[in-house]
Amino acid sequence: MADKRLQLFNISRMQKLLLHWYHANKRDLPWRENQDPYRIWISEIMLQQTKVDTVIPYFHRFLTAFPTVFDLAAADEQEVLKAWEGLGYYSRARNLQNAAQEVVEKYNGVIPDEPDKLGKLKGIGPYTRGAILSIAFNQPEPAVDGNVMRVVSRLLLIEDDIAQARVKKDFEKHVRTLISKEDPASFNQAVMELGALICTPKSPACLLCPVNEVCRAFAEGVQAELPVKSKAKKQRVVPLMALLIQNDQNEFLIEKRSEKGLLANLWQFPMVPLDEMDKKHAATWLQSEYGVNVQIGEELGELRHVFTHLIWELDIYAAKTEAKELADERIRFVSLDELDDYPFPVSHQKMIPYLSQCSRS
Ligand code: ADE
Repeated sequence: MADKRLQLFNISRMQKLLLHWYHANKRDLPWRENQDPYRIWISEIMLQQTKVDTVIPYFHRFLTAFPTVFDLAAADEQEVLKAWEGLGYYSRARNLQNAAQEVVEKYNGVIPDEPDKLGKLKGIGPYTRGAILSIAFNQPEPAVDGNVMRVVSRLLLIEDDIAQARVKKDFEKHVRTLISKEDPASFNQAVMELGALICTPKSPACLLCPVNEVCRAFAEGVQAELPVKSKAKKQRVVPLMALLIQNDQNEFLIEKRSEKGLLANLWQFPMVPLDEMDKKHAATWLQSEYGVNVQIGEELGELRHVFTHLIWELDIYAAKTEAKELADERIRFVSLDELDDYPFPVSHQKMIPYLSQCSRS
């Protein structure tokens, strides 16, 4: 269906209008200063699920901390997670470092420009591979994410459900046809830029759009109905009791999360699963789980944190312990100053202001 539409679509006119608009209107973004594949790679990983404005300061800090692929490969994982703290989706940071190590070991620190080799690196899926190949290496490869599917679904009036993997593959095929073979780096970025500035999810600015004369959805007035996307399943709600446990040295108990799964290897205040037990058994649970005796005090506040697949509902409590030695290697006592050195998920960073309310009586 869409292929047939492509036959009647004025590709060269669209390319010309879009590229002209991009060169006149593109934002001055730090990863657009040059075509260094390391910088492009870092930026594309950070930009997944994260807005440009949020990414910019992280990008600068990350490149100052790890200026080359060698620095990233040699860094301590906790340092990398600390640099990523607050960006979320921490597996992106761990995969990035893992891939940097592979680039150093296998390719002498040279980021490969071959699709197969690049796509085998940890964390580099079809989107990131296409973005690096096109933006850093000028190859006419598609880089299709949700924004690109929105723009292309409107240009070509495609009503397929973009939540389906098969449909994403179709879009990659379409972009291979649409992409400028002379300037693929600018073309892909121009589509992204159009999606960010003009062809936005709600109320797209069609009257200002450089390609409105070729846009099928605009011609039919259906731009607001596109793209079609089936709803994801609702997130599971997980009730938790977070404990700010203080010892008599004014230190707090923190715990390293498991090396697998959600927020792997980050640090947090201990949490008791309230879907498995009542709050009144929390101290017993903590004793059996970590071997620490605590006295639970008053409730300090509540927090809700939404992940892709689940929602944490956190009740935050002050607690005290007389414990001196900790037998479980996952946990340790740290002072308020030392807390700064540990990578924390955003939800637990938000608990840090409550620590001042935990003064021992
Ligand atoms: N989103 C994803 N990649 C981007 C890029 N290179 N520039 C701006 N926004 C983006």
